[in-house]
Amino acid sequence: MRNMRRWNILVGVQLVLIIMIISCQQKHENKGEKHMKHTVKDPHSFARPEEAIIKHIDLDLKVDFEKKQIIGVASLRYEKSADADQLFLDTKDLNIQEIKFETGQPANYKIHKQDPILGSALEIELNGNDNKILIKYLTGNGAEALQWLDPAQTADKTDPFLFTQSQAILARSWIPCQDSPGIRFTYSARVEVPAGMMALMSAENPKEICQDGVYHFEMPQPIPSYLMALAVGKIDFAPVGERTGVYAEPGMLAKSREEFSEMEEMLIIAEKLYGKYQWRRYDLIVLPPSFPFGGMENPRITFATPTILAGDKSLTSLVAHELAHSWSGNLVTNATWNDFWLNEGFTVYFEHRIMEALKGKDYAEMLSALSLQGLETEVDYFMKNGKENATKLKLDLAGKNPDEGVNTIAYDKGYFFLKRLENYVGREKFDVFLNQYFSEHSFQSNYTEAFLDYLDKNLFEKNNIKPIDDLETWVYGTGLPASLPRVISARFALVDKALEQLKNGHHSFDTTGWSSHEWVHFIKNLPEDLSISTMSKLDQAFHFTQSGNAEILGVWFVHCARHLYQPSFNAMEQFLVQTGRRKFLMPVFKELINTPEGKAMALDIYQKARPNYHFVSYNSLDQLLS
Ligand code: BES
Ligand code: ZN
Repeated sequence: MRNMRRWNILVGVQLVLIIMIISCQQKHENKGEKHMKHTVKDPHSFARPEEAIIKHIDLDLKVDFEKKQIIGVASLRYEKSADADQLFLDTKDLNIQEIKFETGQPANYKIHKQDPILGSALEIELNGNDNKILIKYLTGNGAEALQWLDPAQTADKTDPFLFTQSQAILARSWIPCQDSPGIRFTYSARVEVPAGMMALMSAENPKEICQDGVYHFEMPQPIPSYLMALAVGKIDFAPVGERTGVYAEPGMLAKSREEFSEMEEMLIIAEKLYGKYQWRRYDLIVLPPSFPFGGMENPRITFATPTILAGDKSLTSLVAHELAHSWSGNLVTNATWNDFWLNEGFTVYFEHRIMEALKGKDYAEMLSALSLQGLETEVDYFMKNGKENATKLKLDLAGKNPDEGVNTIAYDKGYFFLKRLENYVGREKFDVFLNQYFSEHSFQSNYTEAFLDYLDKNLFEKNNIKPIDDLETWVYGTGLPASLPRVISARFALVDKALEQLKNGHHSFDTTGWSSHEWVHFIKNLPEDLSISTMSKLDQAFHFTQSGNAEILGVWFVHCARHLYQPSFNAMEQFLVQTGRRKFLMPVFKELINTPEGKAMALDIYQKARPNYHFVSYNSLDQLLS
């Protein structure tokens, strides 16, 4: 006992020392730093990391497809400051059954009142010198991260499927944790699934089905909670390159492997640009079509929608995007969701650089042009609808769902800010800067202000360059700055010519060599007042309604919904019922509800489609359609 106390005092002294060193460092760093604010609390987490912080999570999970429930034990190892008496965790709809210390001694805990967005704080009373706590729990019926699919909702239709989506704050609905992107921990897991199924996590993964259904995982690099991920199903693996490969349901595997055959090359290009890949392998799983996003950058295994299987590798910039997150996001992470542009703006920039190296400048210019048009349209909408604040790069999402920050501002305004910096200092200097930025912030989180300070010192001062004079406007201002880079796409210029011809009454023009990006640009920019007869002629000439390319369908169906173009109704309904990717659903439903007839149709389709959607998508659509 005396020994324990002495040890405890020692740990306490150490912690005080560490804190003193950190605060000295901070003071030192603060000198001459214009942008550094005191460390801000994450408004989307109940965690109090300054008191006690999770360092490792060991999971023991049983996946029960019958009950649609995960039965879990989470053992959390934490470090605490000398005077901390409690550990605060985030939970949402978790059924906590028991909490005890490693010694077996039960812990006192309290589950606080539920906040509709954030869930409930779980406050655990800490015990002198313990540093590990065991939490037995069950996931709730509505666990927001989880989607349980019946066999009919999968590609092969033989087995059920489960996948998680933890970003932004849904990890707390399947793991009790400190669900804040500013906190990192390592993890290990034992996962039990029905025999014959495979389990995959954002960790080192199996390549074959394990007959007893028990899998072990290890993630030795510290990651934030939003990168916790699990997929369970009848899944096969096919290698692409030495460090890359594809997982999919057996019936989808060959097509998937073919579509993503450039993965290894992308990985090599990415490393050449911004430094060594830090996560050993880079694999990708093609999920069932209800996956609510295009892709999710879960470390070591990107989760992807099957809607990028176009058959011609035309939508693989999404893979470049998720791969780029292995640096921007997973290695250097936004400290709070107000700094989301640090994740996505950097990633779009990096994605375009990968695609430029892979497919050439004219290809990357198309991506930039699409990015610019999307940005201008959305900024225009925000500015005209009293949502000016949503157009700032640095967001203020306190009290709001961080999902509200998922729009073109973080992605494309973020991208153009970096492009502006690149144009200003030249690519060579900018690349040196980015390389250094990633390597010096590896496995750390970063605030916008800290980035701006780093930029001042390491891009401008170091190179003896006067800082751009609208830096603050870019980051804290609304709308789009006057220095917004221009984009000229030679390939889109040809498409614009075709659009011009169409305006003049012609319905056939030279479209040889058009990629799906050209088609998307073409369809997006068709006149708003398109007549049914023109639609019909276009459809006959180019077969949009029958397209096998989801990006083309996505933009075409917006016109179809606006003009209630009947010949598309069957295909449109099928698309909306089968695809759960929010990016495609929202614009079509938004158009449909503008007319009474369309609205009736929307509600009818939604009734059939909603059971197929993940929480992320039906949550947004419930709001739109209610
Ligand atoms: N990390 C995002 C997806 C995300 C963002 C999920 C915020 C939850 C909250 C991912 O990297 C992403 O941006 N996906 C895009 C694709 C990309 C090519 C723009 C998507 O899903 O469309
Ligand atoms: Zn992203």
